[in-house]
Amino acid sequence: PNVIVVGDSSSVSRRTAEMIASCLRSHPNCVLGLATGGTPVGTYDELTRMHLADGLDFSQVTSFNLDEYIGLSAEHPQSFRYFMQENLFSRVNFCREKTHVPNGVSSDVERECRDYEAMIARSGGIDLQLLGIGHNGHIAFNEPGSSLQSRTRQVALTEETIQNNARFFESIDDVPNTAITMGIGTIMEAKRILLIAFGEGKAEAIERMVAGEPTLDHPASLLQFHSDVTVIIDSAAGAKLS
Ligand code: F6R
Repeated sequence: PNVIVVGDSSSVSRRTAEMIASCLRSHPNCVLGLATGGTPVGTYDELTRMHLADGLDFSQVTSFNLDEYIGLSAEHPQSFRYFMQENLFSRVNFCREKTHVPNGVSSDVERECRDYEAMIARSGGIDLQLLGIGHNGHIAFNEPGSSLQSRTRQVALTEETIQNNARFFESIDDVPNTAITMGIGTIMEAKRILLIAFGEGKAEAIERMVAGEPTLDHPASLLQFHSDVTVIIDSAAGAKLS
């Protein structure tokens, strides 16, 4: 991968937003893959600022989010749909119908997953996929052991991921233990991938991703098999790279 190390987390957000913005300017109807979590919040703030200050236009963009908790509806404040509305979609001029997040309360999860894949395919595929990374190397909710061919499906979250995500909920018992996630195979089909991270807590995950042997035990390391991956990190997350 192409690794860009910048000074701090706000520089990560700015660089990332600039790359997304340049994709939008050259292809106003591009297809973005989007992530939730703490890491992309600053990027979404920066994109919002660019929309308000420079008129960055999202009206023709199609988006697909990586994942959603099973059991949480769009109105649930901890659902990823709600997160996207709050942090990006409602703050810029996205067309609601062109934004996609798996439906966590579908009565037929298997069908929801199949339909999600079909919608991505019908859109022409993801041009630029934004990713965060878990401490254990997970990408989206593809935990260690997920196959390289995996597609959008229902998965169980690991105890570690549940504990990590408990900070967003009132109590750990409120964290759902299953989710719908794009698969590694789905993510690998994106034309370009932009993985972002900051803070020393991510340093080991980044080192294994960039410099380790590609292994199913560390899903992000499988991105070494993709030909267009850019990693944007701060110096703390890059501390273990030589
Ligand atoms: C989010 C997602 C997750 C996060 C990862 C890092 O849609 O799929 O894989 O990217 O858990 O989370 P943060 O950014 O909160 O450290």
